[in-house]
Amino acid sequence: MFFSKIRIQKVGNKDFHIRLCLFYFWRIFVQTKSNMYKQLIRPFLFKFDPEKIHYFTFSFLRKVFKIPGMSGFLKSKYAVEDKRLEREVFGLKFKNPVGLAAGFDKDAKLYKELSGLGFGFVEIGTLTPKPQHGNPKKRLFRLKEDQAIINRMGFNNEGVVAAVERLKKNNGEVLIGGNIGKNKVTPNEKAVEDYQICFEALFPYVDYFVVNVSSPNTPNLRALQDKEPLTNLLNTLKQLNIEKPQPKPILLKIAPDLTDSQLLDIIEIVQTTKIEGVIATNTTISRDGLQSENKEETGGLSGKPLTARSTEVIQFLAEKSNRSFPIIGVGGIHSAKDALDKLEAGASLVQLYTGFIYEGPQLIKDINQAILGK
Ligand SMILES: Cc1cc2nc3c(=O)[nH]c(=O)nc-3n(C[C@H](O)[C@H](O)[C@H](O)COP(=O)(O)O)c2cc1C
Repeated sequence: MFFSKIRIQKVGNKDFHIRLCLFYFWRIFVQTKSNMYKQLIRPFLFKFDPEKIHYFTFSFLRKVFKIPGMSGFLKSKYAVEDKRLEREVFGLKFKNPVGLAAGFDKDAKLYKELSGLGFGFVEIGTLTPKPQHGNPKKRLFRLKEDQAIINRMGFNNEGVVAAVERLKKNNGEVLIGGNIGKNKVTPNEKAVEDYQICFEALFPYVDYFVVNVSSPNTPNLRALQDKEPLTNLLNTLKQLNIEKPQPKPILLKIAPDLTDSQLLDIIEIVQTTKIEGVIATNTTISRDGLQSENKEETGGLSGKPLTARSTEVIQFLAEKSNRSFPIIGVGGIHSAKDALDKLEAGASLVQLYTGFIYEGPQLIKDINQAILGK
């Protein structure tokens, strides 16, 4: 009796100290008016290899969210909840129009925590039927002077089956996009089968699909953007979709490097195949105007140098199609203004990747507040 009393007192004391630390941490965090991520966290993270730090951040965030009270605290710091932010696009209800772009949570390992930082939706993938390692390392580069990234990851992922197991834990809490692709070893003539496998496996667990034919890091993948193979691919998926009791929106993700005439083809293909929309844009192979010394690395460029071109593509698609289908705008959103420009150009929703790395979760809040006019 005596000993058990002491143990309770000790545990109670320890608990008290943890709570006290958390309280002080919370006070500092809340009272920091400036962007703490940019001032304290980013300089630390940017000292390390970009890919290693990506995985470190994943396990760190997972642990942080397990600390009692943390999930609520981070939500209150970054998430903006307001009825005026809600959007209904291709029949889905988004709690706000700011999503996480594909490639960050490829294997659906962190979608709940990322949603807890304020994202209105999370796109997982690109997933392929079989797991694959992707290209040899190093394959991810920060271009600090340009506030950009070059990546040649090459669809590294644990395969669609592993992602499905994780998505089973979602219970409809987070609105999920499923971005699908083909394995590197699959020749383009058989690519449709890979997309079909991913589509069928993910169907019960995602809210919308993204057909990715625009990554520059899988050899010949972008040849699937040509009129004939693309029409064939989208028609096949559309057919599978309409056979379901409740079909799901299918979107096409396009490259920013398409010419005007290729973009006009895309509009025609979207209209003839009757898919629900477009995501504009993926990374670019252009290297115009870069300052950083590692600018010649092979791969797709994202971030600030992409801002204007991706907005231009959105505007072109919206105008030439008479806004006949929804567009998700992505590419170089590093500020609330960049996001508003994309919405103004014709996007219904926006997504972040590189801007999230450079600006942190405050960017999600800034955009949502700017939309509310705050
Ligand atoms: C490291 C990295 C990996 C990416 N992986 C994918 C991917 O697997 N599938 C995809 O559709 N887009 C992928 N993207 C592209 C992004 O989703 C986004 O379209 C592009 O980076 C432009 O947006 P941003 O300038 O905000 O980064 C990746 C981008 C980066 C930086």
